[in-house]
Amino acid sequence: MAPTLRIDLSSDTSTKPSEGMRKAMYDAEVGDEQKHEDKTTTTLCERVATLLGKEAAVFLPSGIMSNVVALLTHCAPGDDIICSSDAHIIGSEGGGVAIFGGISITPIDTVLGIYSADELKARLRPSRSRSPHSRLAHIEQTTNKGGGAIWSVDQINDVAKVAKDAGLSVHTDGARLMNAVVASGVSAKEFVASCDSAWTDLSKGLGAPVGSVLTGSKDFIDEAWTWKHRLGGAMRQSGVIAAAGLYALEHNIERLAEDHANAQVLAERIADIPGVKLDPPNVETNLVFFDVSETELSAPEIASRLLEKGIRMGAINERRMRAVTHLDVSKSDVIAASDAIQEILKNHKA
Ligand SMILES: Cc1ncc(COP(=O)(O)O)c(C=O)c1O
Repeated sequence: MAPTLRIDLSSDTSTKPSEGMRKAMYDAEVGDEQKHEDKTTTTLCERVATLLGKEAAVFLPSGIMSNVVALLTHCAPGDDIICSSDAHIIGSEGGGVAIFGGISITPIDTVLGIYSADELKARLRPSRSRSPHSRLAHIEQTTNKGGGAIWSVDQINDVAKVAKDAGLSVHTDGARLMNAVVASGVSAKEFVASCDSAWTDLSKGLGAPVGSVLTGSKDFIDEAWTWKHRLGGAMRQSGVIAAAGLYALEHNIERLAEDHANAQVLAERIADIPGVKLDPPNVETNLVFFDVSETELSAPEIASRLLEKGIRMGAINERRMRAVTHLDVSKSDVIAASDAIQEILKNHKA
């Protein structure tokens, strides 16, 4: 029999709605979202539009749908998106923009998932009939495979300037935007001020069971609604889940600092295990990646032995692992998890 999962560090998507959140969902005022009659959803959209400093917002079932809807709204078939080669839209969204939009992607190899204005400039396609049309610069805040690194406002503004000068739009995938806000003290508004569109996830560190909110100009959001419909993301009594999002915004933003502190504890303890190296070496938010290639076990082997102890972490490939802190893991959980890795490696040697 599989052991009971005690500590789940595989993703910040593994949070369960709290009692208070479930009560808010139960009590939600609802209507038909497609007719803009769901008051709770409207309130959530207004709240996020204000938070991100944009004119309008639309509620979508997932972060992936926010990316796809935004990118299809910005781009036409034959257009090209420029982003980090580690971006979620390249490796983890089923090629949605290529399939639904006939859009290509030009990747930039990056260390932390962050590219510079010069790197963007170097990837712009010449304007000629044989080239795809460079149309959009894509930013991930924080970077997932880049280890939760934070794009600074200057880095974003520099990239946006090059993009705008060349006629490109800028989009921020804000799956963990609020982690960047809490870790840096910079407001969400400042982070996305030079971006044409940006979204925040509600179902990661913020702890809602589902949902993301995409923001932009009123015209952009009107057009995004068409793609939301086409992709089957238009809902009915969505207030039940929007209420969880509102609860998350009210109760779970500031507490992300605890996740960052726990990630630091985890990172320090993991870095002390012989043969294990943090990768990247600096942990800025709630994602802890580490390299186990100098131990005698592969990443999948360590992950499966952890699972036998009721602890889940991700094996990204043979040598790299990922642990993510979130509101359902405590300081004592991350201490137990790092002790478990140490014990697994020590016992294997013995
Ligand atoms: C950077 C990034 N973008 C997008 C997504 C997709 O979000 P969702 O799981 O809400 O679809 C994720 C999910 O892990 C992510 O890490």
